Amino acid sequence: MTSSPIPAPAAPRTAFGVDIGGTGIKGCVVNLEDGTLIGERVRFDTPQPATPEAVSETVGKVVSAFDYSGVFGVTFPGVVNHGVVHTAANVDPSWIGTNLVESVGSHVPGPVTALNDADAAGLAEVRYGAGRGQSGVVIVVTFGTGIGIAILNDGKLVPNAELGHIEIGGHDAESRAAASAKERDGLSWTEWSARADRYLHTLENLLWPDLFIVGGGISKKPEKWVPHLTTRTPVVVAAMKNNSGIVGAALAAAESI
Ligand code: BGC
Repeated sequence: MTSSPIPAPAAPRTAFGVDIGGTGIKGCVVNLEDGTLIGERVRFDTPQPATPEAVSETVGKVVSAFDYSGVFGVTFPGVVNHGVVHTAANVDPSWIGTNLVESVGSHVPGPVTALNDADAAGLAEVRYGAGRGQSGVVIVVTFGTGIGIAILNDGKLVPNAELGHIEIGGHDAESRAAASAKERDGLSWTEWSARADRYLHTLENLLWPDLFIVGGGISKKPEKWVPHLTTRTPVVVAAMKNNSGIVGAALAAAESI
């Protein structure tokens, strides 16, 4: 009797994700079976000024720390439509009109997909994180330097929802309710959570979501503010934490989202 060789375990489906932020640019290979990182992520400070060329070169540096050839997803903290950046609320204005896919593409060894940072976080949360298995309308809100929004219906993304900039009480909402406003205006947790609550109430009255997922740096201390929220929509805390941008970018690249 001849025994057949034991087949090697199938390699997981992977893609590379890069998250471009105002202070750091980080990336890693992502296991798309479960949304985990393969190996240690690599991070460099965002160059200042954060011009398209300087940032794209830094993305190239992150990628070249890995021996990876496959597809690459890249996030950006502004509107990205068909690869082109259209807004830059908290980043260098020279990005506006830049083709991010081409700019980064000349520094990495594979095809590039580019998308908004909050959209990437949203994709990661509904596929692997706090929105897994949730049907209907999910809104992911990232409270950071700005406010990022992802709207998903039955897991499908409506890209580039810039609802962080809706006007509330005569102000651009993110100027009052982003996490950066807490620091800038010297607010207590109770004061800041009242602003976040007002913002979420406005959103729920406009969009009637089934679930809010709240993320961003400030969600590292959810006990300080999430219990103060009074929305009728259930609120859960993002599960992917720091890596949601990397994971969502990789997913978008692999699935051509
Ligand atoms: C930008 C969004 C971005 C968010 C979070 C906002 O100022 O307009 O596009 O998703 O900040 O970075």
